[in-house]
Amino acid sequence: MSKVLVTGGCGYIGSHTIVDLINNGFEVISIDNFSRSNPLILDGIKAITGKVVSNYNIDLCDLEATKKVFEDHTDIEGIIHFAAYKMVGESVEKPLLYYHNNLVSLTNLLQLIEEFRVQNLVFSSSCSVYGNATELPVTENTLTQKAESPYAHTKQMGEAIIENFAKCYPLKYMLLRYFNPAGAHESAQIGELPIDRPQNLVPYITKTATGELEQLSIFGNDYPTKDGTCIRDYIHVMDIGGAHTAALKRMQQDPDGDWANIYNLGAGVGRSVLEAVQTFEQVNNLQLNWTYADRRPGDVIAVYADNQKAVNDLNWQLNYSFEDIMKSAYQWELTLADKVLV
Ligand code: UD1
Repeated sequence: MSKVLVTGGCGYIGSHTIVDLINNGFEVISIDNFSRSNPLILDGIKAITGKVVSNYNIDLCDLEATKKVFEDHTDIEGIIHFAAYKMVGESVEKPLLYYHNNLVSLTNLLQLIEEFRVQNLVFSSSCSVYGNATELPVTENTLTQKAESPYAHTKQMGEAIIENFAKCYPLKYMLLRYFNPAGAHESAQIGELPIDRPQNLVPYITKTATGELEQLSIFGNDYPTKDGTCIRDYIHVMDIGGAHTAALKRMQQDPDGDWANIYNLGAGVGRSVLEAVQTFEQVNNLQLNWTYADRRPGDVIAVYADNQKAVNDLNWQLNYSFEDIMKSAYQWELTLADKVLV
């Protein structure tokens, strides 16, 4: 069993990935300072896997504190780096917060990777690096455009920093560009836990369904799309988790391979916002209070992935449907309504 360090292990994608890693025999340690997450997620991971994940409550921008984790665990074989801020709107309002947090944490980690001779890194990137994509579906060869937000820019810069670092240090790395992760583990023990009013579509839908939020606004119905609403590629968060496990396994199976690669992680299907709302209503047998509103500044019209490279190279299987996303997200929201958050 090999040891993996997951940063941001209590976050949304981090926690689902940890479950998948444990189910595949990996030993996991986590670093998460709960600045954007909640310790109750560790209980959820334990309830699902039966394993207590040891989490270091450390800020990755604190180099000395982070170094202690590497001193405690000199046998780390791979790192999955999720920890980052990810709210597009907040990044526009507080750009320095995003550049500092997302990039200092990364350069600290790379410094420690070099010092402790870690070989494998998986980096959490985003389809936002494509900007207003010039072709659909987006392949890994689609040229990246100007970043639409400081958040997206930190992902472009993060990728470049890793690529440049790997020219002077023998690092195997994979840059995974997520499209729109959504849904929750089918046990409803873990799921997305926005620290504030959610900005993403699916948590906004689920909180409207429970009555915590009054009404969902669909931003724009005059886009040049099939029903006038924006198109995105929603992918189940457990499928995203599975891709990380597949990426690590692939690097381990073929340690001499040229693992400096970029992969799109999407379901490969474009769905409109209206379709998302209608599917949610259908699978959960309810009616959502929603209305059309103005376009949201900064939104791209349509983006969806060509995922064939990840499917083929990583031997990655997608196991969940769009309906599964909408069902599991609502089950998690209902469970969450009964939980006392610390
Ligand atoms: C964006 C980024 C993504 C990033 C994510 C982090 C792009 C293309 N994507 O996703 O890389 O990881 O932010 O948060 O930049 N919508 C509504 N009403 C709502 C909320 C959303 O209609 O209340 C619509 C949006 O206009 C959009 C779709 O739902 O068309 C999805 O929005 P959202 O979930 O916020 O994700 P993105 O903006 O696509």
